[in-house]
Amino acid sequence: MIMKHILNTKQFSKDDIEQIFSAVPEMEKIAADGSVKKPLAGKLIACVFYEPSTRTRLSFETAALRLGAHIISVEDATENSSAHKGETIEDTARTLSCYADAIVMRHFEVGAAERASKVASKPVINAGDGANQHPSQGLLDLYTIKNEEGRLDNLSIAFVGDVLNSRTLKSLVPLLILYPNNTFYFISPRELALDENYRKYLQDNKVNFKEINELDGVLPQVDVLYMMRVQKERFKNPQDYEKVKDSFLLKSAHVKKLKKTAIIMHPLPRVNEIDPAIDGDSRAAYFRQAQNGLFVRMALLLYVFGK
Ligand code: CP
Repeated sequence: MIMKHILNTKQFSKDDIEQIFSAVPEMEKIAADGSVKKPLAGKLIACVFYEPSTRTRLSFETAALRLGAHIISVEDATENSSAHKGETIEDTARTLSCYADAIVMRHFEVGAAERASKVASKPVINAGDGANQHPSQGLLDLYTIKNEEGRLDNLSIAFVGDVLNSRTLKSLVPLLILYPNNTFYFISPRELALDENYRKYLQDNKVNFKEINELDGVLPQVDVLYMMRVQKERFKNPQDYEKVKDSFLLKSAHVKKLKKTAIIMHPLPRVNEIDPAIDGDSRAAYFRQAQNGLFVRMALLLYVFGK
C-alpha cells in the first residue's frame, strides 16, 4: 500500500473526498456507541503540537480513541519535546516513526509537516503549518457545507477577516474549486488581503473571485459566510495587529441581511469577530462544524490507514 501523507488539500480528488465523506455516517455511529467495532484497534497515533490547539488536537485524539487506537501526545512541543534542546523536525519525525503508526503534527513553520513526511516512515498528517495549510480543517469545512447546504456547487462563499494568514481559507478553497460555479468573496482590511502568489493561483485556476473591503453589500448574496480570526500570532509588530484586529465584527444586524438558507461558519477559536448573541440563530453553524471535525477526522484516519 502507498503511504498516505495528508499535507495539503490540493492532493485530494473528488473521488478521495467522496470516499472520506461516505464513511462519516458510520463514524457518527461508532462515536455514539462504545460497543461497535473498533477498526483501528492495535494502532498507535502520535500527536505533536508546536502551536496551541483545542479542536484539532483533542478531536484527532478523540477520533483515534473512538476508533480503538492508542495515542501518545505532546502539547507545547517547542517547550516539552527535545525541540527545546535543538532537535530538528526531521529527527523528531524519524524518532516518532519508530514508535507510532501515524504522526499528527501542528507547527508554526510553513512546510514543517512536509519536511517531516520526507523522512518519516509512517504517514504524517498536517494539523496546521503556519499560515499555509490545515487539510483536515478544509475537509471538515467542506463536509459541513455539504451537510448544511445540500450541495458543493453553485455557491457564493464570503471569507471575512484575516484573508492573508488564514490556512483554513487556503485549505477550503482548493476543495471548493473542484465543484462548478462557485463564487468567492475575500473580505479583509487592505493590510490582510490575499498575497500576490495566492491571487495568481486563483487566476491560474480560473476561479471566480472578488476582493473587497466591506461586508454589508455581499451579505444578501452569500450562501456561506466564513468568519475568521485576525491572527495575532502572525504579526511581527503588535501595533499593526491593534490597527486591524476589529475590522470585521459580525453583529445581529448583519445576520438580518443574510438569506434564510445561508450559514455562518468559523474554524474557531473566535475572539470577538462573531457576537455571541448570534450563536442561537439556526444559521450559526460553527459549533456543528466543530462537531463534524470529530467525524471527518475519524473518517480521515481510516483513509490514511487504508481501512
Ligand atoms: N480550528 C482549529 O484549528 O482550532 P484549534 O486551533 O483549536 O485546533
